[in-house]
Amino acid sequence: MIWGDPGAQTNGGSGQAQAGVDVFGKNGDGWEGVQCKQKDGLLRTKVTVAELEHEAAAARTFKPRLSRFILATSGPRDAKVQERARELSEPGFDVQVSSWEDIWHELYEYRDLLARILPVYWPMQAALRSRRIAASRLRHAADHLFGREAELAALDAAWANPAVHVVTLVAWGGVGKTALVWKWVAGLAARDHDGADYFDWSFYSQGTREQGGASADSFVDAALRLFGDEAMADSPRSPWDKGARLAQLVAERRTLLVLDGLEPLQHPPGPLAGELKDPAMSTLLKGLAGRNAGLCVVTTRERVKDLAAFEESTAPRRPLERLSREAGVELLRSLGVHGAAADLKKLVQDIQGHALTLNLLGGFLRDAHGGDVRRRRPRRCPGDRRARLHAPTPRRRPPLPRPPLPRPHRPRRGAAPGRQARLRPPPRGAGGSRSGGGRVVGGRTGRRGAGGVLLAAADFSPKRSRRLATLE
Ligand SMILES: Nc1ncnc2c1ncn2[C@@H]1O[C@H](COP(=O)(O)OP(=O)(O)O)[C@@H](O)[C@H]1O
Ligand SMILES: [Mg+2]
Repeated sequence: MIWGDPGAQTNGGSGQAQAGVDVFGKNGDGWEGVQCKQKDGLLRTKVTVAELEHEAAAARTFKPRLSRFILATSGPRDAKVQERARELSEPGFDVQVSSWEDIWHELYEYRDLLARILPVYWPMQAALRSRRIAASRLRHAADHLFGREAELAALDAAWANPAVHVVTLVAWGGVGKTALVWKWVAGLAARDHDGADYFDWSFYSQGTREQGGASADSFVDAALRLFGDEAMADSPRSPWDKGARLAQLVAERRTLLVLDGLEPLQHPPGPLAGELKDPAMSTLLKGLAGRNAGLCVVTTRERVKDLAAFEESTAPRRPLERLSREAGVELLRSLGVHGAAADLKKLVQDIQGHALTLNLLGGFLRDAHGGDVRRRRPRRCPGDRRARLHAPTPRRRPPLPRPPLPRPHRPRRGAAPGRQARLRPPPRGAGGSRSGGGRVVGGRTGRRGAGGVLLAAADFSPKRSRRLATLE
């Protein structure tokens, strides 16, 4: 497995002459042989220099000729034996001694192998090491994630980098934070989380919908239980103590912790903007930024101020940008929107690649307009300044006949001649579905219906889109 040689084989049966070699195989161009010592279970018995000399001399006669001979021992590392191994080495025949520490270290690099042999040789450790994996609570997963290659790669890099402890993805609602993290976590799950523990939590719904008030209590409680300290979860200890204990439990083993939609636990814009209101969460995140064998991924609409001191080192902050034009176009097409590439690109650009708006508008165009992208242009909506700016210039109306001056002695309000003349037919499109093709846009009636709201999504002001995002 280590050599990557499927043909590696044991040399002869037990008791047979073995020319100093138990296992041999090909590593690159050369043959390598291993002799295992202390197979009788006498752990910590040292290999002697004389034994090494004897085994190395025998290995020299092995056919095919070995380029490297390794004496693997369950005993401790011994400087004299190591030195002798270097002396016995010569060009074309390398002699090495692998002590128990070396083998153990190597085993950690081969997690699959470790997982296979651990329960056989070390059942106690295997029981203690049982994995802690909780079912995911993340929502809003995209059926298919478009684009985001760079962001996925950055998360991979952070996961592989032991110096990165916490990553914070910051963007306003609907940009695609949860969808991105979910996709990345799903990829990792297919690799069995690389042998790590896994736990996630979504504060977005927990804080803002179910309980009305934001708190990390239920998260801290559930996490403490999963990570094995039920007594702490049940205790009346302070949130600071609980947060610190949780940080300790999470940090001590390689764990992926995902905290999605942290913003309900943070102060809104103002002097304290972004600071965590919840002391347990603040202690947990600062603790993890200081020490963490795995990674904690946080998504939020606000920068987490509590982590500011770590942003340059262990807790980088990554603003999540809008979807690229290409990814946006692919997303629209996947929703059933069709049309010229330039029109689709223009739509993505106007919406600033905002994933949620693209999904809403794409779905609307598909359902209401058979997916025709040209129908997306918002009609004039009363009071909708941006929509008016985007709307086509209205046709000039013919000048109206001047109403005659009211006669002072006979004021008849509402029935004055010329009143009828002032009541003009509504502009084209007003009155919603009355206009051809079943359109539900424009005018007051259309605006009140779902179509009106959705077309209003094509008013791309960030303020409006943000308002939309809160409707997620
Ligand atoms: N890259 C993407 N490809 C396809 N759909 C996406 C993508 N990013 C986000 N979405 C969709 O857009 C909507 C908003 O995304 P979400 O991840 O909930 O945003 P956020 O967490 O930033 O508020 C969801 O319906 C999600 O499935
Ligand atoms: Mg989200």
